[in-house]
Amino acid sequence: METERFYLETLGCQMNIYDSEFIADVLERAGSERVEDPREASVILVNTCSVRARAEGKAIARLSEFAALGKLNPSLVVGVVGCMAQRLGRRLAQSRVRLSLVAGFDAYDRLPELIREARLRRPVVEILSEPRALFSSRPRCRDSTAAFVTIMQGCDNYCSYCIVPYVRGRERSKPHGVIVDEIAHLVGLGTREVTLIGQNVNSYRDGQVDFAQLLELASGIEGLSRIRFTTSHPKDLTLGLIERIRDLPKVCEHLHLPIQSGSDRILALMNRGYTRGDFAKIVQFARYTIPTLAVTTDIMVGFPTETEADFEGTVKTLEDLQFDAAFMFRYSPREGTRAEGLGDDVPLEDKTRRLEAAVALQNRVTDEKKAALLGKEVEILIEKETRRDCAFMQGRTRENWLAKIPREGVRRGETVVADVLSATRWMLSCERSSRKVGT
Ligand code: SAH
Ligand code: SF4
Ligand code: F3S
Repeated sequence: METERFYLETLGCQMNIYDSEFIADVLERAGSERVEDPREASVILVNTCSVRARAEGKAIARLSEFAALGKLNPSLVVGVVGCMAQRLGRRLAQSRVRLSLVAGFDAYDRLPELIREARLRRPVVEILSEPRALFSSRPRCRDSTAAFVTIMQGCDNYCSYCIVPYVRGRERSKPHGVIVDEIAHLVGLGTREVTLIGQNVNSYRDGQVDFAQLLELASGIEGLSRIRFTTSHPKDLTLGLIERIRDLPKVCEHLHLPIQSGSDRILALMNRGYTRGDFAKIVQFARYTIPTLAVTTDIMVGFPTETEADFEGTVKTLEDLQFDAAFMFRYSPREGTRAEGLGDDVPLEDKTRRLEAAVALQNRVTDEKKAALLGKEVEILIEKETRRDCAFMQGRTRENWLAKIPREGVRRGETVVADVLSATRWMLSCERSSRKVGT
């Protein structure tokens, strides 16, 4: 039989990036070869996201393009995996896009058989109604300086707008021993930085170890230089945890802490479990405790019933809290969530206007923060050549800023101290400092 050549495209968040590595491993172990051009593939898989209607629209558009390739090559298998597959299951298989395979999270380790089956009878649909898989550990990994490690699956928070608890299931934490082994294994392959990922990492608890203890265990892994984590939830990020983070030198000075809205009325409707005041106190304490801390956030505009006054609260919060960066979204109603019942009463043009105003404001703040870094020293973990210009290597600072440095004498996986020479919104240009790390 001919070797399968698979093309795998990943949409959505870090959880999907991690899962895609798992899928690639499963397929490669079964003898398939990964290709970078979908036209060369015998199997095309799209790992999808359901968080907003636009994310799903994008997945459908990509799948339609790939299904069109199937007209020239009838044995081509075009499959959907990830959150949208989990959410829609058979409904997706019955859509107008001709799909061969729809596989939920628990089917990933059986993908090689399912692909074979999809050649005989299509579409094949494999979904468990309540996802269980935790992906005990990643068996192999492409060698990368910075890697994601999933520490928990699912979410129990049920923010009223959010589809994630419905697609990813109940919150469950991966046993700490498995996580530590996985990180140690990655370090053996050359990884120097790990980002511990989950929808709500601060509530990690495997029955023996909580999140702070997990950070301590990870810190003890020899050869690992840096630890990051995302996403934090304001209701679970305790002041004690912030102090523990300060005391662990490998844990980087960056906190991604979504606020969503600056209106207490909207936050209550979102079921977020904190007020704007609570949130501000956490950020103040965190910045006081860890002075170089970068704080980033997520903002949503146009949640049902959001008035101009509510939105002004968000604007005021962005001005007051001076986030280092923010991801911003227009509210998108999701089927089966509590907020769906509130209607979607903010007109699209108001949502768009609010989004643009919030983005413009945040861009100004981010630019000012970047400008303030000129002449300062940063520590960069070198990851790879810059895409545009091979005279430079790029990496991230401890605060998670993207930074580049002339490649001369700089190695991948090395941490260098550098001076910031210039800055754009996206990239710091640096030069190596005479100081060494830790001196
Ligand atoms: N677990 C994380 C991330 C969830 S998804 C958290 O709790 O913050 C990432 C972001 O997408 C969210 O922070 C939110 O800002 C946005 N988002 C989630 N559901 C959305 C929806 N229905 N419409 C618009 N944005 C949404
Ligand atoms: Fe969704 Fe809220 Fe859970 Fe984040 S914490 S995944 S926004 S339900
Ligand atoms: Fe999207 Fe699923 Fe992540 S819905 S945001 S890919 S958990």
